[in-house]
Formats: sequence, structure tokens, C-alpha cells
Amino acid sequence: MSNGYELWLNYTKVMDQNLLAEYRSKIQSVYLEGSGETHAAIKKELKMGLGGLLDTEVVFHKYNGTGNQLIVSKYNELPQELKGNFNMDDLSGEGYKIKTVQLKNASYVVVTSNADIGLLYGTFNFLRLLQMNSSLSNLDITEIPKVDIRVLNHWDNLDRTIERGYAGFSIWNWHTLPGYIDQRYIDYARVNASVGINGTVLTNVNANALILTPQYLEKVKALAKVFRPYGIKVYLTARFSAPIEIGGLETADPLDANVIQWWKDKAKEIYTMIPDFGGFLVKANSEGQPGPQNYGRSHLDGANLMADALEPYGGLVIWRAFVYSEHDPTDRAKQAYSEFLPEDGKFKNNVLLQVKNGAIDFQPREPFHPLFGAMPNTPVMMEFQITKEYLGFATHLVFLPKLFEEVLQSDTYRKGKGSLVAKVIDGSLNNKKLTGMAGVSNVGNDINWTGHPFGQADWYGFGRLAWNPYMTSENIADEWLRLTFSNDEKFVQPVKQMMIESREAVVNYMNPLGLHHIFDTGHHYGPGPWVNNLSRPEWNPVYYHKVDSEGIGFDRTRTGSDALSQYAPEVEKMFTDLETCPEEYLLWFHHLPWDYTLKNGRTLWDGLGLKYQEGVEKVRDMIKTWKTMEPYVDKNRHHQVSMLLNIQLKEAIWWKDACMLYFQTFSKMDFPKEMETPK
Ligand code: GCU
Repeated sequence: MSNGYELWLNYTKVMDQNLLAEYRSKIQSVYLEGSGETHAAIKKELKMGLGGLLDTEVVFHKYNGTGNQLIVSKYNELPQELKGNFNMDDLSGEGYKIKTVQLKNASYVVVTSNADIGLLYGTFNFLRLLQMNSSLSNLDITEIPKVDIRVLNHWDNLDRTIERGYAGFSIWNWHTLPGYIDQRYIDYARVNASVGINGTVLTNVNANALILTPQYLEKVKALAKVFRPYGIKVYLTARFSAPIEIGGLETADPLDANVIQWWKDKAKEIYTMIPDFGGFLVKANSEGQPGPQNYGRSHLDGANLMADALEPYGGLVIWRAFVYSEHDPTDRAKQAYSEFLPEDGKFKNNVLLQVKNGAIDFQPREPFHPLFGAMPNTPVMMEFQITKEYLGFATHLVFLPKLFEEVLQSDTYRKGKGSLVAKVIDGSLNNKKLTGMAGVSNVGNDINWTGHPFGQADWYGFGRLAWNPYMTSENIADEWLRLTFSNDEKFVQPVKQMMIESREAVVNYMNPLGLHHIFDTGHHYGPGPWVNNLSRPEWNPVYYHKVDSEGIGFDRTRTGSDALSQYAPEVEKMFTDLETCPEEYLLWFHHLPWDYTLKNGRTLWDGLGLKYQEGVEKVRDMIKTWKTMEPYVDKNRHHQVSMLLNIQLKEAIWWKDACMLYFQTFSKMDFPKEMETPK
């Protein structure tokens, strides 16, 4: 019985007897060359992985020249006669090659890289091949990450609560650190490295300055030590007012000499303890957080202040662009673009701007953020949310890589057709030296880490896309299912289909046709389109759907908030013209009458009801599919997912009924006959 703790590093014995025999014969021993702590991590993983998958004691052996060996070695330490098979010029330190090499009638599988970390990544990929039952006969793999900074953002507080966390409490036990190293820390590093994640921001963006005190830095240092062999750097959130709160200064003004000195001293202190510290992630002047604007300064002043302090040590400042204020009543979606665009090219070289995938806030579907592609002289990195704040928490099965893929594949048209968001993120659109992707973590101390067993797939998928933003969600689902559950096609194919379709299902039963932010207030779970009593207008759902007796939707064209003018002209035109605006985004950009005719000939009112119904039906299909999967999944996880799917169905119906009944008080129209009438 599995509790899911091992995640996708599931090294149970290969079931297929022929394959098992092939693997055992091809890997009779392992030649592992090198030294140091990453090397030790590789050895440990191979022992565990091969030991489990092949169900044998793993033999480490000198290069024997007779074949049937797995060779894991940096290129410069490869046996001379194998070297000729590799051209390593195209590889970065993190890249690796895996190749089947025939030499004098002998066959080797070789994993090689220019650096230890690439070798670790290659080792994980090799183990993945076995887990996925791939043949070892003709391997010829070259992998290089396309993005530099591949980082998880933990919104974890120092009291171990997690903002928007739905899988228990924080895995960072600040109380027992630094003396006690929980096995979870090591396993966390292993699973992240297995997908190439190379950084972790330990603390909430709504930051507590205490994390920067010596007492806490000792604890951070202990975690950094655990993560180091796995190539994972530690980052912290820096509260802008820290110089006041823990430094005893009277101001945090970024132009004040004492403040400048304070951050310099703090950087020095941190790097003395943690020489490979990644840097600071900063949320400033957003949702009540302190920032440079408190002192009449700009985001630029704030970011460059910290950048100067970190620069001598190679540290980065990741400055978030998630800003909006109650003082701009027209459209919250516009503010980040308006504030940051004029600063393009003015940030120091070690600053990245971290932009959420959409301009509102991690909705089930959002058009891509207009800042992508619009700041050619600034490293703009992606922020995805892996935790499901607006997608049913850890209760609903929604496969997020499908959403991530949609965003990455969106065309910004900033340099003509084909200017994909993915090209902004991997730097190829504007030849960027520094690139990054962040994912707001869904990890907690639940036994299976993510609460919903399928939440693991979102973490996995984020890592895979950060490594290669062009991967398809279908491939990701395929891999994850095989690694986590089974290679049986009778399981993989239907469940993959279910995962792929789950994203559209949630859009339909929560926010169809471009509706957004109609969640109940504060917690963002369940429907609340009627909420209109919050202190800030842009927190109220009514601000977003703008329902009235005439119709529904947010006009963001030139006749409305004009947010569309923040996109490239081609994109603006496409979304503005009702003929070309995809219906998935209809009410995001347009306020339309109830009797507006949709492409299928139905009225907007009917179409809305039918979409809600479609979402509900899809969850019913998911339940049916999952029922038939019982033979392939352990009892425990099968039962967990079944129970959660039943809740999901109940809540999909709740969404449909609540939203349609509320909107009906304005439309005064009958429900379409195909829609199940609310009970
Ligand atoms: C959302 C979320 C907050 C979070 C914020 C952010 O608004 O609800 O909890 O702090 O995003 O990303 O900063």
C-alpha cells in the first residue's frame, strides 16, 4: 500500500520480466567516477534506484572494458576510449548526455556531463528511463535546461502556517532547526533535483523580517547545507521595512545612506554564512506590504538598492510585479504594466522581474500578462501558482501543466507572429542572459506532500516546464503517471486523458466564457459572485463580472477600461474583434447582452448555462474513468482520489447552481433546457 510519500521517485521493481532481464544484463555493475558531496548523492540515488528497480544489490566496479556497465562520469574523467563518442562543447554545467556506446563488441550506457550537477540530473533521467520501461539499446540523449532560475516559492510563514497552502503545515520546522535535520529536507532536495529545480524561496512573499536575523539565518544555513549537493540554492523573501523592524533604523527609504549600508551589511552577513545564497524575492507596495513608494521612491529605487547590496556576492533580486491599488478604480489588470513598463532597461543586471502568468491573479483561465514580451531590456520571469488557490485547493483534481502550457504557448506578437511567452521566458526572444520560472509551491507536511495525490503532478510538471518550457502537458502527464502509478497502457491512456481534460472542466464549472474572480471572498473557495461588501472595490467579485439586466462581462476594449491597448496591436485587435476573440476569453474582454449570439448559435445566457453543465458532466466522466482504474492503483490512493472526486462533483454542481441562480436574477431568463435545474 502506498501513501505516496516517495512521489515520482518510485523505485519499485520493474514488472515486465523481459525488460527486467535486459536491464540486469546491461547493468551488471556501475562505474562511478568522481568525488564530493554531489557525487555522494549520485551514488546514494543509484543504490536506491537501481537497487529497487532491478531488485539487486548494486555493484560499483572499476571500468572493466568488457561492457554491460553503466558508466556515470564527468567527461574529463571518462575512460579514454569512451571519450571519442561525445562532443561536450554544446553543454552547460547543468546539461548532460546519456548514450548507449558500442565498443569492441561491448555495450555501455554512459551518463556524462561537464559538471557534477549535470551528472546528478543525468542520473535522475537515467533512472526515469528505467521507471518508464524504456529500452536502453539506442540511447542518445542531450539535455540542457532552457531556463536558468528554476525556483519554488514557498508561501510559508515562520509559525509554519502556509498562505494558500492546502497540504498541511510547512515542512520547515523552524523550532528544531538547525540541530535537527528532518529526512523530509533531504527527500525534498532529491525530488526537486530529479526534475531540475535549482532554487527554493523558503518564506512567504508577505514577509516577516525575522527571517533575516542571525538566529533564523543559522537555520537557513542548515537547510542550505542539505540542499547544496542537489544543486538547490536557498533564497529568502526580504521585507522592505526590515531595516526598521530588525535593524533599529527610523526609515527604510532606499536612498537613505544608513538604509543602503544596512542592506550591504546584511548581504555580507548572509554570504559569510551561506556563500551560495541565491538572493531575495521581494513583494513591495502590494496588498499592504511596505515598499519604496512609502518614501516617495519607485520600484526601481527599491530593487536597485538590494541589487547593489547583493551584487558583490553574485546574488539576485527577484522583484515581483504583482501590484495593484485601490486608487485606480478603473481596472486592476492594468497597473503592473503601467508601473513597470517605463522602467524597462533601468534595473541593475542582477534584477529579475517576476510576473504572474496573468494580470489579475492565478484564475482558472487568464489571458497572458501583457508585460510578457513588452520589456525587451529586462529579464522578466514567470510566476505560476502550483498551489490551487482559485482552482479548488487540494480537493479538486485539476492538472495544472495544461494551464501552464496554454500560457507559455500564447503569442505575444511583440516581435511578430511566433513571439511566444515561452520565448520570453527562455530568453530567446530578446537574447536574455538571465532567465527564470517560479512556481508557488503546493507542498506541505501531509504524508504525500501535496494533499491531493494528483497535486504531485503539478509540482512535477512545473519542474519539467521550468527545465523545458516547450514540453507538452500530454508528455508530462504521461511521464508522471508512469513514474507514480503504472506503465500499463490500460491505465496510462485513460487517466492521461482525464488529466488533460480536467483543466477545461474546472474552467467550465467555475469561470466559463472568460468570467473571473467570482470566488467567495478571502479564502477563494467556492462561488461568491454576489459579494459586494469588501473595503476595496477590486476585491469584490461584482467588479469583475459587472452583471446587470442588460448583460455580463468586463469591457476592456477602447470603449471600456482599455486594458487591451497594453498588448501588441495584433493581440489587441484579435481580442477586440468579437469575430476573432476566442470564446474562452469573451467576458474577460467584453460586456455583452444576454441575447448575444455565440458561435454555436445559442444565446450568451444559454451558452453560460451549457458551459456550467459541461463542467459538471466532465467531473462525472472523471469519476467513471477513475472507477475502472481500480485494478491498477493501490487501494489507498484509489480510495483517496475517489472520495475527492465525489466532493469535486458536489462542488461543481454547487458552482453551477449558485452562479446561474444569481445571474438569473439579472437576466430574468429561463435556464436552457439541457441544464440540470438547481434543486
Ligand atoms: C493573492 C493571494 C495572496 C498573495 C498574493 C500575492 O492575492 O490571495 O494570498 O499574498 O496573491 O501573490 O502576493
